[in-house]
Amino acid sequence: MNALPEEFLFTLLEKNPIAEEFRRCHISLNQCGKGFSCSCPFHSETGKSCFIYPETHNFYCSSCHCGGDVITFLMLMQNFSYEEAIQFLAQRSQLSIPSASPENAFQIQQKRERCFQINKDTANFYYQNLITPSGQAGLNYFRKRKLLPQTIRKYGLGYAPDNWHSLHDYLSRKGYSDEEMILANVCRQGKNGQLYDNFRNRVIFPILDMQRHVIGFGGRVLDDSKPKYLNTSDTPVFDKGNHLFSLPFTENSSVFILAEGYMDVIALYQAGFHNAVATLGTAITPRQARLIAQYAEEVIISYDSDSAGQNAAQKAISHFQEVGLPARVLHMTNAKDPDEFIQNFGKEHFQNLLNHALSVTEFSLNRCQENLDLQTQNGKTTYLRRISLVLAGIGNQTEQDVFIQKKAKELDIRPEILRQAVERSANDQKKFQGKKFFQEIERRFSHISRSESKNTKSEELILAYLMRFPEIISTVMQILQPEQFTIEFHRKLYQLLCQILPDCTKFIPSLLGNSLSIEEMCRTTGIFFDYRDKLNQQALEDCIHNLYLFSAKPTIPEPSGISDNELLQRISNKKKNTHWI
Ligand code: CTP
Ligand code: MN
Repeated sequence: MNALPEEFLFTLLEKNPIAEEFRRCHISLNQCGKGFSCSCPFHSETGKSCFIYPETHNFYCSSCHCGGDVITFLMLMQNFSYEEAIQFLAQRSQLSIPSASPENAFQIQQKRERCFQINKDTANFYYQNLITPSGQAGLNYFRKRKLLPQTIRKYGLGYAPDNWHSLHDYLSRKGYSDEEMILANVCRQGKNGQLYDNFRNRVIFPILDMQRHVIGFGGRVLDDSKPKYLNTSDTPVFDKGNHLFSLPFTENSSVFILAEGYMDVIALYQAGFHNAVATLGTAITPRQARLIAQYAEEVIISYDSDSAGQNAAQKAISHFQEVGLPARVLHMTNAKDPDEFIQNFGKEHFQNLLNHALSVTEFSLNRCQENLDLQTQNGKTTYLRRISLVLAGIGNQTEQDVFIQKKAKELDIRPEILRQAVERSANDQKKFQGKKFFQEIERRFSHISRSESKNTKSEELILAYLMRFPEIISTVMQILQPEQFTIEFHRKLYQLLCQILPDCTKFIPSLLGNSLSIEEMCRTTGIFFDYRDKLNQQALEDCIHNLYLFSAKPTIPEPSGISDNELLQRISNKKKNTHWI
């Protein structure tokens, strides 16, 4: 991502206060001067080593050296990339992200508008087809799938004729260029350079965003040929990991149903369940999980009953756990998916399934039996081990007790035996993966604890001074070369500061966000804070002097008006107390 305009970045940070973000994660804060202190969420501690500085939009843990701004916080907490964090925050605070150059932004917006239009016309073309003789096959297919006319209308379903050029001809007549059709991925270019329609002889499911723009399509074959579904590939308006089918048609509901397929969601809608969504032909992404969490308070995973569906459910559970959305899992037998279930048994029975959806624990316990023969000793032992592992993961003591009793009875063993197994499992888990999150963070940041050498400190102080007093950069740039920094990261940071500070009135580390990794952001924040009370001109001079002593062969540029020698003398011969700042 290109550097964001400073003004936008500051607005984004102001609209998303860092302290608020901590509170959202249920971290309790104590007022501490102008800021706050709290237990660090990134390492296990009972103390309060983590400080929040609202003024500079930062946090920093003096113990694990983890720190940064609200963007870094989200990158660490939610595993966002830098771009994702920016997008998430911009969306939440209703800011639009400016592009690098205004002209570019305008062009991109124009392209998007054109894609929306072309998609809308395409959707209309497919929809209108259903009532023409050439679309009879499509309409028949939907009838066979028991869809009512109002459902077809609601979703704007359609049919792509069994023909290579009918859409292309239609769109050309409407004034769209070949280029635009390719960009929207409704047509493709053949080897001979001619365009042909992407979807042929398929029923069409338009995909809408929350503003009800048509952003893409799914197309299904009418028979058993392959591939069963064809979906729009990524375009300027469509990124399949970012959207959910039918999300704009969901009605206010605290519980969402997550299904696998277009047809499931549509069948559910027709049966009166107006709160179902599906991913677009891929496993659910963290972004989609967050999207659901934005609208729902609970999700019921209603995937196919086959083992692929159940494995996918397990993965979805962990995504929902990551975003803190409570999930349950539908337990469906005698039908392969919700669509088939509703056709066979009706909506009341499906409601019943929803009411009895399994908790995550029940679901995981049920799965422990998979591929095991409980008649064999081996099977039994494995089963006990798997069950203990699941039970050990239950945070609530009472719930754990209830399940231990229940499972012990089922296994016909004494509850104490099972409890011992669970405790052993819990210990093992603690040893091997307990606090995995913290360990991971600690591992990542352990190397940040900085060396205590005089040189390191000197380099850090210079960098800290520059960050706090950007106006001196032009002077320092004349004296110090990046190569004089002995630590590679310091060299990089100095180079970045040389680029950015000359145009900067107020510096905060966030301004370097797009050029730094999380670790580097932590280090930068650490330097920014650790020296804030130690910055004075004398210290700066001393430190620059140290750098000259340390760097093996300083090559000093000739600044305007001062010779190399003169400069060196000023710095090394401090007794003369020449002030050059
Ligand atoms: N899918 C896809 N590409 C495929 C197969 C499936 O994109 N080749 C996606 C579609 O979004 C589909 C979903 O995965 O809706 C679930 O696939 P599947 O269970 O096979 O299809 P159903 O939705 O059950 O479709 P149908 O009932 O029409 O067979
Ligand atoms: Mn199906």
